[in-house]
Amino acid sequence: MVVAHIFVWMVLVLLSSRIPVSDGTATDIECLKSIRESLVDPNNYLNTTWDFNNKSEGFLCKFMGVECWHPDENRVLNIRLTDLGLKGQFPVGIQKCTSLTGLDLSHNKLSGSIPENISKILPYVVTFDLSFNNFSGGIPRDLANCSFLNDLKLDNNRLTGNIPLEFGLLDRIKTFTVTNNLLSGPIPTFTHGDIPAESFANNLDLCGKQLKPCPGVQRKSRVGVIAAAAAGGITFTSIIVGIFLYYMSRGVAKRKADDPEGNRWAKSIRGTKDIKASYLTHFVIGYNVFWLA
Ligand SMILES: *[C@@H]1O[C@H](CO)[C@@H](O)[C@H](O)[C@H]1NC(C)=O
Ligand SMILES: *[C@@H]1O[C@H](CO)[C@@H](O)[C@H](O)[C@H]1NC(C)=O
Ligand SMILES: *[C@@H]1O[C@H](CO)[C@@H](O)[C@H](O)[C@H]1NC(C)=O
Ligand SMILES: *[C@@H]1O[C@H](CO)[C@@H](O)[C@H](O)[C@H]1NC(C)=O
Ligand SMILES: *[C@@H]1O[C@H](CO)[C@@H](O)[C@H](O)[C@H]1NC(C)=O
Repeated sequence: MVVAHIFVWMVLVLLSSRIPVSDGTATDIECLKSIRESLVDPNNYLNTTWDFNNKSEGFLCKFMGVECWHPDENRVLNIRLTDLGLKGQFPVGIQKCTSLTGLDLSHNKLSGSIPENISKILPYVVTFDLSFNNFSGGIPRDLANCSFLNDLKLDNNRLTGNIPLEFGLLDRIKTFTVTNNLLSGPIPTFTHGDIPAESFANNLDLCGKQLKPCPGVQRKSRVGVIAAAAAGGITFTSIIVGIFLYYMSRGVAKRKADDPEGNRWAKSIRGTKDIKASYLTHFVIGYNVFWLA
């Protein structure tokens, strides 16, 4: 009896470790409910086709635009809601679809910004398409933390600012498009994929390898600073050497002409004072030359 009880208890413990899976599907139902609530759906597509009253297992998987891992399990793999005239902001409730790998909201009228914590919302996203909407603001740096990304389409929106250079490190990226936005600055260097120039076309002022060369702000200024430092250093050194030689020679000439018992101390003190004063003057000049350069 005791052995049998222990056995049953162990089976229960093992089963309970599987509970998060069924919790997962419960949150997936919440996920789709929150998407339907948060998006403005003028044509009532979601409103009429997403029926949450029929609770049979896998009922979500028959919803328009919803694909599950298994047709009889409410665990959402992909959501594809394209060209439905949807309005509103990015549906952050989608973070409750914890097993989501694909999201396509392209060809709608969505607006607002892409959430800053997008990699927390879509940690496993492989294909992500927000193209042909009305998204504005910057491309969040955190999107580069979605390390499974294969396809990222952000083209035809109103995105501004720079493209985070971290995207270059995404090692699975195959498609990356930001055509027709308002982006500027250098584009990432993709180390694992070949992204054509067309993917960046028609923005405000992008530059980089595939496009026009960047103004080279960073490299030029660095070269400039080094050159200025070198020039400043040389000027400074030559001034000091010059002063030193000048006083040396003057000292030698004066010593020759000096009266033997003349107040040498006073003179030598005045000499060092002069050296110090001109040292300072030339130091300041040298520094100004350095900073102006
Ligand atoms: C769909 O939307 C219409 C109007 O907005 C509303 O009257 C109707 O109750 C909604 N249907 C569902 C199933 O939510
Ligand atoms: C619930 O959905 C299943 C699968 O789509 C369908 O076979 C069944 O008839 C539906 N039940 C009701 C009450 O709508
Ligand atoms: C992401 O940020 C939004 C607010 O911008 C917040 O509501 C949401 O809970 C955050 N999600 C995660 C997974 O951190
Ligand atoms: C995009 O949003 C701007 C304001 O944010 C609005 O003026 C414009 O009409 C929108 N465009 C579309 C196609 O919805
Ligand atoms: C990516 O995530 C790590 C750890 O959560 C964080 O330290 C880092 O700042 C994130 N990178 C970006 C580009 O957001």
